[in-house]
Amino acid sequence: MSLTLSPHLLSRLSELVATQTGLHFPPERWTDLERGIVAAAPDFNFSDRESCAQWLLSAPLTRQMNEVLASHLSIGETYFFREKQSLGIFEEHILPMLLQSRRQNERRLRIWSAGCSTGEEAYTLAILLDRLIPDLNDWNITILATDFNPKFLRKAALGIYGEWSFRDAPVWLREHYFTKNGDGSFEIHPRIKKMVTFSYLNFADDIYPSLANNTSAMDVILCRNVLMYFTAQHAKQVADHFHRALVDGGWLIVSLTEASNSLLSSFTPVVFPRAVLYRKMKNTESTSRVSEHQRPPLFAKTEVALPMPPVMQPVPAATDIHVAHADPLPAPQQDEREVLSRMARSCADQGQLSEALAWCEKAIAADKLNPSHYYLSATILQEQGQHDGAIQSLMRALYLDPDFALAHFALGNLHQSQGRYREAQRYFGNVLLLLRKHPPNETLPEADGLTAGRLAEIVTSLLASLPQAAANV
Ligand SMILES: C[S@@+](CC[C@H](N)C(=O)[O-])C[C@H]1O[C@@H](n2cnc3c(N)ncnc32)[C@H](O)[C@@H]1O
Repeated sequence: MSLTLSPHLLSRLSELVATQTGLHFPPERWTDLERGIVAAAPDFNFSDRESCAQWLLSAPLTRQMNEVLASHLSIGETYFFREKQSLGIFEEHILPMLLQSRRQNERRLRIWSAGCSTGEEAYTLAILLDRLIPDLNDWNITILATDFNPKFLRKAALGIYGEWSFRDAPVWLREHYFTKNGDGSFEIHPRIKKMVTFSYLNFADDIYPSLANNTSAMDVILCRNVLMYFTAQHAKQVADHFHRALVDGGWLIVSLTEASNSLLSSFTPVVFPRAVLYRKMKNTESTSRVSEHQRPPLFAKTEVALPMPPVMQPVPAATDIHVAHADPLPAPQQDEREVLSRMARSCADQGQLSEALAWCEKAIAADKLNPSHYYLSATILQEQGQHDGAIQSLMRALYLDPDFALAHFALGNLHQSQGRYREAQRYFGNVLLLLRKHPPNETLPEADGLTAGRLAEIVTSLLASLPQAAANV
């Protein structure tokens, strides 16, 4: 394709795309950039590329516009069991150590396929865990898989693949983990599908790590064949976010071509015979190279058309709920209270859930009327799989602050995850109602940087994705 957009326009577009997505389009990739704009133009109702480009540059991009751009500019190349070197290290070193250290305490593992494309990487991980953990049912496993291309995410959630996705896969894979459909495609077994949660995340958005979108306290993050498409500056920012998203001792796995000690300077490189992996070391600034044998012991404008929200879910009556009221003893000082909740949050960020809960209980005891303590306790309980306890804590938070949008949001998610779509719909509706009181750019309390506008977009798409039946129940 020959370039028809002017260098000036292409340079401005490439800056815009870098800011919005992190993706790097230097002059040698301007043909790809222009091709993307040509493909996106009809989706934006333009018949010519130049007007589309001018329009994109004329106003702030909404998430919806970003999604359209993402679907035309991102490269989704992926397949099952890709890059076996790093998967082998995961299988032979990282996983056994994690299992050993966690078996005695909380049997919990958290893995993130960041930039998951159509899901092959995340399902590969689920299959590995299925094969390697004999008592899998006794473990609380999270496999989060995120991408910013909604088309990829839809295909991933479907779990149906063609031959090409198996181009480098072991022979047993299809036999044991897929069912062949009449049209020749292969569908992943529901048991494996259930192990993975797919969700939207644009790495250029400053909203991770966060308990609110389940991106904190990760043991392992795989972000392979993603950062190589980013500007150095954006790649570094993303890597720093990942650093914060990992527990101490957690691992970042990038592809061999992305391994760069300067880019990943907040991590400690760990050299294996066929790959370099990156590790977050506790309280260390060190970037020194550690070989496999020396390493320390482990682990010990959418003007989005908002749907009319359903009627506000009533918060429970005081008698339905038991929130301890302030007692007559002298109250702890404000500083002390903050320390308790900070300790709870910091343990939760590190995945130390029992400790986090214990701190949370202390914070609640010291500051009984503070809804954010109950919200934090709910996120921890949810992570522990204690859904009823989490719902109770959220109801307590709402009893104290009926306008707590994040608590309504969390309740919507909890009900949705358990198939109670009507309740989910009500709580999501409540969020939209409450968000009307906030300017879109306002950061919400307890939301780790999430703005009101962004949350409205997320909730709107969640509402749209609820099964139709919910509306009619
Ligand atoms: C080449 S695929 C890699 C898939 C998989 N990790 C693998 O190695 O097989 C790159 C993925 O990164 C995603 N991606 C690119 N930029 C992103 C961003 N700013 N936020 C989230 N995902 C992004 C793309 O949509 C694409 O699915």
